[in-house]
Amino acid sequence: MADAEGLKAADNYGLDIPVSAQSYYLKGLEYADWGIKDRMSRIFNKKSGKTVMLAFDHGYIMGPTSGLERIDLSIVPLLEYADSIMCSRGILRSCIPPTFNKPISLRFSAGTTILNELNDECIIDVDEAIRLNASCMAIMVSVGGKYEAKTIQNLVRTADAGNKYGIPTLGVTAVGKELVRDARYLSLATRVIAENGATFVKTYYCEKDFEKVVAACPVPIVIAGGKKLPENEALEVAYKAISDGASGVDMGRNVFQSEDPIAMIKAVKGVVHDGLSAVQGFELYNDLKQIL
Ligand code: R5P
Repeated sequence: MADAEGLKAADNYGLDIPVSAQSYYLKGLEYADWGIKDRMSRIFNKKSGKTVMLAFDHGYIMGPTSGLERIDLSIVPLLEYADSIMCSRGILRSCIPPTFNKPISLRFSAGTTILNELNDECIIDVDEAIRLNASCMAIMVSVGGKYEAKTIQNLVRTADAGNKYGIPTLGVTAVGKELVRDARYLSLATRVIAENGATFVKTYYCEKDFEKVVAACPVPIVIAGGKKLPENEALEVAYKAISDGASGVDMGRNVFQSEDPIAMIKAVKGVVHDGLSAVQGFELYNDLKQIL
């Protein structure tokens, strides 16, 4: 029962202190709802405004990818260094201890595999994202592909459900025959994904005019790492993408297939969060590699 007597009178109104102007730190999300902002601020570092996501969802279309044969051995030791993890619900439930408490980018669409034409996908029920405490739902979007309409509809339905429950939607530029890694295609694809409701967008880096891809996308962009490169080249891609305005990386093979995955993810974080150049990042990689 509430106390009716002896209550301390409220008198600390700070009448001479104006309420500070508040501004959210991520591009295009000033007017997003509280739950969306809360979850995005788990994924994106509040000081740098950037993120290093560790992607290991490859098996959902590729089966046991090199480096992902045993998630418990290759990925679990890396979890503590990632800002966020991206995986399927199957791997999350079977291999990822729930005590790690990392924000989860949940692979949220599924359908065909590399044995068939990719991107003929459906979406998972939003209840699963809530049950798994997902910080965002990642949807494949095949702009220009055979399943363009279907995957954009998947994006729209995911964004609707996400807005209902305050869960961000990550629109992923799908891999497929239509994926041309130039600014013309990538700016079209990322803009379409953002306009159709994605809270942030994952795409690929291109050498020429990537800053225009970022500029034309009204929400944050993170880049996928792509196929395994020598460590210095992968760090160069990360550095250039960040210099051109990307808000982070969602990197898989260039981390977990590295000769030294822990040194590599630490070097990537140095480039993404701490302003290291690609050369400095590679020096850090080599230093860490030596002492491990
Ligand atoms: C794409 O959506 C895939 O499922 C991966 O998450 C993505 O390609 C990132 O991994 P990687 O850096 O190996 O390309």
